[in-house]
This record gives sequence, structure tokens and C-alpha cells, in this order.
Amino acid sequence: MADFSPADDGQEELLKACTVHVHSDGPLLVTGDLRIGIPGGDEPVAETRVFLCRCGASKNKPFCDGAHKEIDFEDPSESIDIANAVDDGSSLKSATVAVTLFENGPLLLDGVARIECGKPDGQIHQFSRPALCRCGASKNKPFCDGMHNRSDFTAEGS
Ligand code: FES
Repeated sequence: MADFSPADDGQEELLKACTVHVHSDGPLLVTGDLRIGIPGGDEPVAETRVFLCRCGASKNKPFCDGAHKEIDFEDPSESIDIANAVDDGSSLKSATVAVTLFENGPLLLDGVARIECGKPDGQIHQFSRPALCRCGASKNKPFCDGMHNRSDFTAEGS
């Protein structure tokens, strides 16, 4: 009898891995088995695909509402400056990744995430527990560099 079970080539694991695609001049598209802790919310929200604001202007934080276009947010994000980020080479896992939103600060992906910048064939790097800017002011986007402390960024309860 023929065996029609899918080949265990690791592709399924890769598909489930948390991936962050950094949209040029726009939001972060985060996919994976996510649990988003909304401040003031009862339980973390389970999602598999979300657009998260990184310009700081959304009225529906932590989610993108298209405000980056209104403020002409610019970050081509064609590359990642890995000099200021830790890439520990951990293996990709399909484990659930908790998304923690710091009050008036970055978002933390509490797990291993693959971060893609630029167009297809752009850079792909893998990070453990990356803290990603959501105020729009970091000089090391997509990562937080602490600039939110010097800006008047408020996350309005998110
Ligand atoms: S959230 Fe933007 S620099 Fe920290």
C-alpha cells in the first residue's frame, strides 16, 4: 500500500516557525503560533498572522491601522544591522511565541524568531527574544535601541 503521509523534511517546522517580515515604510507582519499579551486584556490573544505597528502612530496599537502612510513613515528596511543585535544561532522551533508589549516601549518576542528584511531574497536572520521597536524612533530598526525613552511615544494603554 502506498504511503501518502507527508515527508518529514522539516518544512512543516519551518512553516510554523515565528517569522517577522519587516515591511518597508510599514508595519511588521508577524506569523507563527503567537500569544499576544494585550495590557489590560484578560488572556493573551492567540493569533497566527498579525500586522503590528512599528511607526508609533496607529490608533489601534499594537496593531497597524495604516497610519504609517498618513505620517509618511520612512524605513526602507532593506537590511538588518546585526552589529547591535544578538544572533545566537538557536535552531528554529515551532513553539508558541509570546508577544509582550512593554508600556510605551518595544515589543518582545519571547522565543526564537526569523526576521526578514527587504524584498524576497532579502536578508533573513534568526534571533532569540528580539525586542522590536514600535515607536518609530529607533536608529537601529527593526530593533529597539532605547530611543522611546527620549521621544514622547505613548502606547495609549497598549
Ligand atoms: S520602541 Fe522604539 S526605540 Fe524602543
